[in-house]
Amino acid sequence: MTQYKEVDVANARPISLYDVSSKPAISVVGLGYVGAVSTACLSSLGHRVIGVDIDQSKVEDIAAGRSPIHEKDLGRLLTEGVEKGLISATDDLAYAVRNTDATFVSVGTPTAADGGCDYRFIEAAAKSMGVGLRQKKGFHVFVMRCSIPPGTTMKVMTPILEKTSGKRLGEDFGVAFNPEFLREGVAVDDFYAPPKTVIGATCDRTGNILRQICLPVDAEPIMTTIENAEMVKYVDNVWHATKVCFGNEVGRLAKAFGIDSHAVMDIFVQDTKLNLSPYYLKPGFAYGGSCLPKEVRAVAHLAEEAGVSLPMIANLSASNRAQIDEAVDMAVATGARTVGVLGLAFKPGTDDLRESPILEVIAELRDRGIKVVAHDPAITKETAIESQLGYVKYASPGLAALATELRGMLVETGKTVSDMADTLIVTQKNDTYAQIVRDAAETKAKPTIDVVRAFAECPSTDAYQGIGW
Ligand SMILES: NC(=O)c1ccc[n+]([C@@H]2O[C@H](COP(=O)([O-])OP(=O)(O)OC[C@H]3O[C@@H](n4cnc5c(N)ncnc54)[C@H](O)[C@@H]3O)[C@@H](O)[C@H]2O)c1
Repeated sequence: MTQYKEVDVANARPISLYDVSSKPAISVVGLGYVGAVSTACLSSLGHRVIGVDIDQSKVEDIAAGRSPIHEKDLGRLLTEGVEKGLISATDDLAYAVRNTDATFVSVGTPTAADGGCDYRFIEAAAKSMGVGLRQKKGFHVFVMRCSIPPGTTMKVMTPILEKTSGKRLGEDFGVAFNPEFLREGVAVDDFYAPPKTVIGATCDRTGNILRQICLPVDAEPIMTTIENAEMVKYVDNVWHATKVCFGNEVGRLAKAFGIDSHAVMDIFVQDTKLNLSPYYLKPGFAYGGSCLPKEVRAVAHLAEEAGVSLPMIANLSASNRAQIDEAVDMAVATGARTVGVLGLAFKPGTDDLRESPILEVIAELRDRGIKVVAHDPAITKETAIESQLGYVKYASPGLAALATELRGMLVETGKTVSDMADTLIVTQKNDTYAQIVRDAAETKAKPTIDVVRAFAECPSTDAYQGIGW
C-alpha cells in the first residue's frame, strides 16, 4: 500500500475555480475499468490521485504504475503518474477521503437477483467514505460515477454518508453525479474527448469544483439535476442497445431478401434530418398517420413470411398501443362523463385522419360510455371524414363506428370543447389550444391531459397531467 503523508486539509488553501495551481486532489474508489482510467487520466491533468480498491492486486498494480486491465495507453499513463508522484493506491478508503478534496465513486453495480441493481458495493463504499468524512475537517465532494437507477445517489449513498459521518450535506460535503461515457478499448481517448459531460450537483459549490476538474476536457459541461444525470446514463445505454438491435434486425431482414444490409444502412445514416437527429425522440403521443403504422405492419409481415425473427420491429405496434392505452387510462381516471379532444389529425397542419391515434382513444372512451366532443383547426363539418376513415373497416367495432359518428362530435371552436367537457385531452401544439388548456387547468382546475407537451413551461397544477412528463 502506497500512502502519502496525511494532508492537513483544514488548513489547506480553499479550492477555487480556475486556479490551476490548486487542482483538487482526488480519490478514486473502485479501480476497475472506469476507476483505473479515471486515475490515470486525472493524474495526466495534474491532479494528485489516490486509487482505492478492496482488491489488493489492483491496488498493487496501480501503485506500481501497471494497468490492471487491457486498455490502450492506460499502462503508459499510470506509469507516468506514479513516476511524477501523482498516483498512489490504497485499500484504506477513509484514509483516501481524508487526504483528498473529492472522491470519485466507480465501484461495480452488478445486476441483483431480482434483475435490479445490486447496491451492496455502493453501500459498503459509502460507509467507509462516511468514516473518512467524519475524521476530516474541510469540505469534501463525493462524485458518484456508477451507472445506477435514478435516485440512488441521494437515496442510497448520501444518507449513509450523513449517518456515518454525522456531517451535513451542503455544509460539510457536497454530492454530485457525473456519469462515465467511456467505451472500453478507446477509454483513454474518450476521456480526453468525451461525447458529452453531464454534471448533476447538490449545490453550486460542488458543481463548480467538478466543473473545474472537467474543464481541460470539456469547457461546456451540461449542468442538470442529479436524478436527470442518473437517468441520462441509463437512457443512453438503452438507446445504444436499441440501435444495435435495430441494425441487426435490418441485417436479418435484408439478408432474407438478398439485399446488402450495409449498403442500406450506409444510405440510412446519411439522413441526419430525420434518421440520426433529435427528430422523433422527444416523448409525446403514439405514432400515427398514413405511413408509419402501415409500414411497420408491412415490414413485420414481410419478416414473418420470410421466417425471420424481428422481435423489436414486430413489437413496435404493441409499444405504440401502450401509449394509446395510457391516454385512455388517464382520461378514464379523471371520472369524466364528457371528454373534450383538442386536435384530431395525427399531427398539426394536416386534415389527415388516417390512423390518427387519438381516434383509437375516442373509440375506447365511447365504448366505456364516455361522451366525446372534439375540435381540430384543419377539420370542419365539410371535411370528407368518411372517405379518410375507410381503413377502419378492418379495425375494432368502436373505431369502425367512428367513420359515421365522428362528424357529430365536432364543435366549432376549442373553447366550446373546453366549455362542454369535464376533462380535456390536447393532442396538438398551438397557441390557442395551449391557452385553453392552461386556463382550464389553472383557473378552473379542470383535468387536462397533454399528450403532446403543448407547453415550454407546463401549468403547475395537479389538474394538468402530461403523458410522459
Ligand atoms: N466498464 C465500462 O465501460 C463502464 C462505462 C461507464 C460506466 N460504467 C459503470 O461504472 C461502474 C464501474 O464499472 P467498472 O466496469 O469499472 O466495474 P469493475 O467491476 O471493473 O470495477 C469495480 C471495482 O470496484 C471495486 N470495489 C467494489 N467495492 C469496493 C469498495 N467498497 N471499495 C473499494 N473498491 C471497491 C471492485 O473490487 C472492482 O475493482 C459501474 O457502475 C458501471 O456500470 C462502466
